[in-house]
Amino acid sequence: MTVFFPWQFMFKSMTYLPGTLLHALKNRDLTTLFSWSKLQAAWFGRFWAWAGPQVRQGAEVTVVPLLEGRITNGSVIPPSDRSTAVHPGISGAVLEIGPGSGMWVSIFSDKYQSSSADSSHDQQGKPGHRGRVTRVYGVEPNPAVHPLLRQQIAKADLQDVYEVVPVGIEDLASSGRVAPQSVDCIVSVLCLCSIPDPERNIKELYNYLKPGGRWYVYEHVKRERSNSWAVALYQAFVNLFWPHIIGGCELQRETGKWLKEAGSWSNIDLVSPKGEPWFMTLPHVVGVLTK
Ligand SMILES: C[S@@+](CC[C@H](N)C(=O)[O-])C[C@H]1O[C@@H](n2cnc3c(N)ncnc32)[C@H](O)[C@@H]1O
Repeated sequence: MTVFFPWQFMFKSMTYLPGTLLHALKNRDLTTLFSWSKLQAAWFGRFWAWAGPQVRQGAEVTVVPLLEGRITNGSVIPPSDRSTAVHPGISGAVLEIGPGSGMWVSIFSDKYQSSSADSSHDQQGKPGHRGRVTRVYGVEPNPAVHPLLRQQIAKADLQDVYEVVPVGIEDLASSGRVAPQSVDCIVSVLCLCSIPDPERNIKELYNYLKPGGRWYVYEHVKRERSNSWAVALYQAFVNLFWPHIIGGCELQRETGKWLKEAGSWSNIDLVSPKGEPWFMTLPHVVGVLTK
């Protein structure tokens, strides 16, 4: 990922705007034409149908091991060394935040076989192994991505397991669909950059985890000036444009800090991925927090 990546990504997103406007015009969809938030959501839905698979291609080397409990201290534990893993993989009831077009849905299926051919889906995830996922709540407010999300659910044969909750996490409590302290795992992949009032809503989400529950995180975050002031400045400049063009995604969020401060954790293993270049405009945090 070069320093030019954000501009290339924004340019690609811009190419989806005329089609979104034309579609709304053709359908006389005045609410989309005259509401910036609705237009942005429809535009993002079209763009993410293209971008989602590209992002998955780059991120699956991290996200698949993360969800199998094979990432510790930012390093991926190879499948042959699973016995050294400390975190169980996902299992039980899972809350997936902002699943978008469902790029990670297949991983929740018992039929999913990673390249490492992990087929032991115990009820409880063992360290380094995914457990049996019994329920997934996909909290996704953008209706423009729901058709693709539902396609992925059907493709993974998860219609009886995966429930789309069509609200933002800020409205999850009033939806009554998920009880507090009821989920075994939260999965957030590249989505806390897009939610409103992140510090408060991350705290709200913490309350959905059972004691002992785990939060699996792969998010891009604010570049700290102490790492490289030039890259931090560059990120701040890119962020003047980025959220308007990439569906409200913010580059300058202290998501790692807010997650650590969301509540009391028995274990926090959340750091930058090992080997991530210092000049990345979108630096990440990866890991598992255990309640
Ligand atoms: C950058 S996309 C990532 C989608 C998906 N996680 C992936 O990796 O392909 C961010 C997602 O967060 C969703 N989102 C935005 N606001 C949200 C909110 N308030 N609650 C939950 N999800 C939200 C967006 O609709 C979008 O689908």
